[in-house]
Amino acid sequence: ATERTLSIIKPDATNRNLTGKINAKFEEAGLRIVAQKRIQLTKAQAGQFYAVHAERPFFDELTDFMASAPVVVQVLEGEGAIAKNREVMGATNPADAAPGTIRAEFAESVGENSVHGSDAPDTAAEEIAFFFSGLELVG
Ligand code: CMP
Repeated sequence: ATERTLSIIKPDATNRNLTGKINAKFEEAGLRIVAQKRIQLTKAQAGQFYAVHAERPFFDELTDFMASAPVVVQVLEGEGAIAKNREVMGATNPADAAPGTIRAEFAESVGENSVHGSDAPDTAAEEIAFFFSGLELVG
């Protein structure tokens, strides 16, 4: 089925001017960017977005990093978009990411791993609503 998923191009990637190269990977995989904006998160907003990780030892590092520079938040649409996006991103840890994936090519570490993507339909819906109103989604 046609799905939508929430994608974030993280500070390590925006800092290195990789937005276009990462978007090319999504588009080449058949994912359509139906909404996109560049924003600066506060640490509090990053904490709200990653609330599910609040008890993890890396939470403070993660939220500092996500607030350290602009991010590009986007909605990707396509057939099986959630799984397809995860395939294009590669494993969370770039050391484990398959060749040709975004994280294999661009990520610097498990923390500074260039992109985020929703992991399931329910989280995709929540994460899209966190950043976008219905009016901003232009299929
Ligand atoms: P993401 O898919 O955005 O979801 C949570 C993020 O936490 C994950 O990508 C990683 O960037 C980050 N993360 C996971 N494990 C670690 C870790 N051990 N140290 C730092 N950051 C981590």
